[in-house]
Amino acid sequence: MHYGDVLSSCDEALHDLGTDYLDLFLIHWPNKKIPMPETLQAIDELHEQGKVRSIGVSNFTISHIDQAVAVSGLPIANNQVEFHPSFYQKELLEFCQSRAIALTAYCPLGRGADLNNKVIVVLADKYAKTPAQICLRWLVQKGAVVIPKSASPAHLHSNMDIFDWQLASEDEQKIDNISQQQRLIDPDFGEF
Ligand SMILES: NC(=O)c1ccc[n+]([C@@H]2O[C@H](COP(=O)([O-])OP(=O)(O)OC[C@H]3O[C@@H](n4cnc5c(N)ncnc54)[C@H](OP(=O)(O)O)[C@@H]3O)[C@@H](O)[C@H]2O)c1
Repeated sequence: MHYGDVLSSCDEALHDLGTDYLDLFLIHWPNKKIPMPETLQAIDELHEQGKVRSIGVSNFTISHIDQAVAVSGLPIANNQVEFHPSFYQKELLEFCQSRAIALTAYCPLGRGADLNNKVIVVLADKYAKTPAQICLRWLVQKGAVVIPKSASPAHLHSNMDIFDWQLASEDEQKIDNISQQQRLIDPDFGEF
């Protein structure tokens, strides 16, 4: 996240991807050892050079976003965070939405763990959908961007098939009330 490293990592990504600009460039984790203005200044320059169109962050709390917004020359377009039925970061979602920051839900299936949740299984049966589709549809109805990962073509296909039906609001609320678990992704350097 140091100034020079940000510039070189962007150039490396452009080279690897065989493109001359990125739609969205994310700061993967906040790092209190490196002043945020230093990182954001480098990204502003990448934007001025046309290499980066929008800037995003990841694993940022409300307070990290406040700090970033205060010093960034660009709007923060996106915050990618852990978000799934058993880790429903409602306050962070509402904060992002109030500032027009798209929230991307990573681990949207709780790495598979939420697929066995009783509430999810019962709703899957009721709607004749898979548990994964119930989780993803709930996230989409919350206004989140979802990035489920799958190595299975059948799962990829069904995970995308969630846009021609919806959960009734009382069922959405049942998922809102699922008992909450610890973060799945919590490395030692995470400032949570
Ligand atoms: N920004 C960050 O710090 C951060 C941190 C963690 C993750 N991420 C990103 O978030 C994305 C997803 O996260 P993730 O992979 O950790 O968790 P995830 O998407 O919640 O779960 C992936 C697991 O769910 C299974 N799965 C997917 N679709 C399924 C279906 N329809 N039915 C049954 N099982 C299904 C997959 O197995 P199969 O392959 O067998 O389908 C895989 O084991 C990744 O692209 C990752 O890079 C970002």
